[in-house]
Amino acid sequence: MPANTTNAVAPDGAATVPDEAVAPLLRGIAVLRRLTEADGGALSLSALEKATGLARSTVDRLIATLARVGYVRLDGRDVSLAPRLMELGNAYLAALRLPGLLAARADALADELDESVSLAVGDRDGIRFIHQATRRRAMSLSFRIGDLLPAERTAPGPLFATEWTPDDWQRWRRRRAADPEDRGFSHVPPREHGTPDEDFERRTERAAGEGWALDDQLIEPGLVAVSVPVRDPGTGRVACVASVVSHTSRHTAPDLRAALLPRLRAAVAAMEDDLRTAPPAEPGPQPSGLATWTGASKQELGREFVESLARGLTVLTAFGEGRPALTLTEVAKATGLARATARRALITYEHAGLVAPAPDRAFALTPRVLSLGFPPLSRTSLPEIAQPHLTALAGRVHESAALAVLSETGEEIQYTARASTGRVLSARVTVGARLPAYATALGRVLLAGRPDGAGTPSDVLREVRARGHALVDEELEAGLRAVAVPVRDRTGRVVAAVNVAMHAARWTAEECVTRILPELRRTADLIETELRVAGRFCRVPAV
Ligand code: PHB
Repeated sequence: MPANTTNAVAPDGAATVPDEAVAPLLRGIAVLRRLTEADGGALSLSALEKATGLARSTVDRLIATLARVGYVRLDGRDVSLAPRLMELGNAYLAALRLPGLLAARADALADELDESVSLAVGDRDGIRFIHQATRRRAMSLSFRIGDLLPAERTAPGPLFATEWTPDDWQRWRRRRAADPEDRGFSHVPPREHGTPDEDFERRTERAAGEGWALDDQLIEPGLVAVSVPVRDPGTGRVACVASVVSHTSRHTAPDLRAALLPRLRAAVAAMEDDLRTAPPAEPGPQPSGLATWTGASKQELGREFVESLARGLTVLTAFGEGRPALTLTEVAKATGLARATARRALITYEHAGLVAPAPDRAFALTPRVLSLGFPPLSRTSLPEIAQPHLTALAGRVHESAALAVLSETGEEIQYTARASTGRVLSARVTVGARLPAYATALGRVLLAGRPDGAGTPSDVLREVRARGHALVDEELEAGLRAVAVPVRDRTGRVVAAVNVAMHAARWTAEECVTRILPELRRTADLIETELRVAGRFCRVPAV
């Protein structure tokens, strides 16, 4: 391997790459980071080639592999992140357990105060968000789950810094000197008025004494925050920091402390109680057959499939709820990888800062795992998830396909995504269009899926519920036939419906059921799979 290739993927351009690191895995990580920096927008294959310094053929193979795993989407020559990638960040958040245990309290506090509330963890000399309860406001800037901020320009920062070691302080000073404008933090405006290092040291001392900290417009003019640490009941150490974030048009920083700190403190006390009384973590089902799956993909895609990258990625998904720290033996068992392969992957991840040693010769994921696509993907909506699947479906059946939700009253459906075909005669509805719910297949599926209590279902709706699909034949419009199935979220609730609409002359009602319906079901399954991953720790907007 040429030396410059190694340098191109070394994090921070600093630490030398260990001999045993898996080069394709490091390259795959570098590609995912570039795509994340592009904020979920697409990058062309040639832009990736330039950004990574890798050969085009290497980029092609890495992307083919990441696409196969479902972590990126390749649309012509454009590459973008796919929701499935969120399973890596989910593995970290599930292993950490804090979002699952504390998010509801953070959300309730945001409702009570009508201000945004966030939870953050320390990430070396930065802070990284693990939950956001965001109030959309004219004057508000909001960060996303997974965004990293420089500790010294935040309210949580000084609270984490109360536990920093001399080495941590050293690292922080080096970073401040090397990056005086905070260019390394893509989500904060550049540092303008260089505050002396002593300011942060003083804020940290105060935070240690007072048990809270303020951010008085350190990130940008207008943005103020007050923070309180949530302590681990076992160790007494800071597990995460809860913040109330506001704007100077509503609260000055001193006013934020006076008015809202008491209520933030009460919420944090309740959070600490929740941690104390939480039942032991429930390990979910072990991921299984991962190594078998990658083997089969290798058979199918041949040279285009970089097996060492796909295998390495499975290591991150071995962690999760009830599995926060795993030994090499446990990682090998969970993934089905040979010990030597699992070991080299762990060495690679440790070098990339994604895995850190834990007690008893184990390893744990670090918050940095969230830098692999999570922030941009955390804002994905259901129509965005569905769109590529609708396009593929329309391409397979040569008829138009659409996604819709029920209006607030339940009387209408609203189209939220669609894909059409080149046919002259095709169902033409535009996104945003509304139609009477009861007259459409989409609407019947949505009405049938409403929880009991939302009106008495008619015989028609009962039948739709029993069959799991609705077929509407020329009722809305002569010549139009449509079939629809529900899309359910991870709790089983029907959140949308997908349909195929066609000219009645092209397909009989029977063909519609035998030939179109299975394709439609497959599409709904694919959308549901991605929705389950995306919706595990993030709210996925239905529209
Ligand atoms: C946020 O949650 O957006 C936030 C929290 C603390 C800060 C700044 C922003 O200091």
